[in-house]
Amino acid sequence: MLPRRRPVACAYLGSQARAPADRRTSEADLSRRALITGITGQDGTYLAEYLTTQGYEVYGLVRGQQNPRVRQLRQSLGNVRLVRGDLLDQGSLISAVERVQPDEVYNLAAISYVPMSWQQAELTGEVTGLGVLRVLEAIRVCSGISASRSPGRGQIRFYQASSSEMFGMVRESPQTEQTPFHPRSPYGVAKVYGHFLTQNYRESYGMFAVSGILFNHESPRRGAEFVTRKISLGVAKIKLGYERQLRLGNLSAHRDWGFAGDYVTAMHLMLGQDEPVDYVIGTGVTHSVEDLLEHAFKVADLDWRDHVVTDAAFIRPAEVDKLCADASAARERLGWEPKMTFEELIGMMVEADLELLSSGGHAEDWFGDAW
Ligand code: GDD
Repeated sequence: MLPRRRPVACAYLGSQARAPADRRTSEADLSRRALITGITGQDGTYLAEYLTTQGYEVYGLVRGQQNPRVRQLRQSLGNVRLVRGDLLDQGSLISAVERVQPDEVYNLAAISYVPMSWQQAELTGEVTGLGVLRVLEAIRVCSGISASRSPGRGQIRFYQASSSEMFGMVRESPQTEQTPFHPRSPYGVAKVYGHFLTQNYRESYGMFAVSGILFNHESPRRGAEFVTRKISLGVAKIKLGYERQLRLGNLSAHRDWGFAGDYVTAMHLMLGQDEPVDYVIGTGVTHSVEDLLEHAFKVADLDWRDHVVTDAAFIRPAEVDKLCADASAARERLGWEPKMTFEELIGMMVEADLELLSSGGHAEDWFGDAW
């Protein structure tokens, strides 16, 4: 049972609930509370760890019965409190916001593997797109905000995980906050919906709602289906003699890859500003999948040309050829910049997977992306 610290005043639709601002004035001494959706994913775990070091009480939204990730999460992030809820279920999100009474909500949950969004396009729209609407509605309703009633000073602040996939077939390079979107997958389209909806709630209701347009960000906790981790695991398996080949898709795609641990600090900084503003977050350096192979195999003294096979099964119906961030606004206004280079990141991932597999661990020991 979660501790209750504030009077709850929340009802769905037409509520006259008191805004969190009213409730908080006499409770300024309490530590800040964050509610994270997608808590079991790579970004969720890094963000939870980071916010804990900043003195936050961290709550994570988890879905389903007997979700195996919940046990893993309890073992690795023992101080994170869990609340039940599902991005497909409006009522559960209202209950979660009502129970936690957060100061900040981070919506990181999504179906985030781009190829899956063609196979399950409708579900992707529901979770990755409409899920954003449901979280925003939960905040709006629980805060008693309406078209005629704006949020007060201590309102719940909302972060939406937007994606560089929204730029898709890029109109200019590098990409800034002003670059038009041209998404190339049902996932990218769903993210555009969430992005504009976040902006719309900000403009319609005066909510503190922002999007971080994050370029690819990776780590040893990345799901095994994403190309960086697939390669770091592949290198480790080949080095240890478990496998001889690694099958991949388009090797000429270019991405701006950074370290996820660096990127979650940008999310937090965005919610700490005086004004709600969207930011592009990336390194500004782009590499091809081939460059990635070159670096990753070199870490293990291997040559990728001896092991990599291209396989049409991994080619996408429509590709995003090249992404590169111009994060100068974040650097200038948030004081944010990435600390880890591409080479350090790939080195860290390969070393981590060599260690993991040599000690009998599995790729899923960190749980990957989640909704
Ligand atoms: N996953 C994968 N597997 N990608 C491959 C493979 C392969 O075998 N071979 C080549 N690639 C290429 C893909 O075609 C793509 O161009 C690139 O590697 C990166 O693929 P992913 O690692 O799957 O990431 P993504 O760029 O599609 O999307 C990721 O980054 C976005 C941020 O821009 C995801 O994390 C998204 O959820 C996120 O929004």
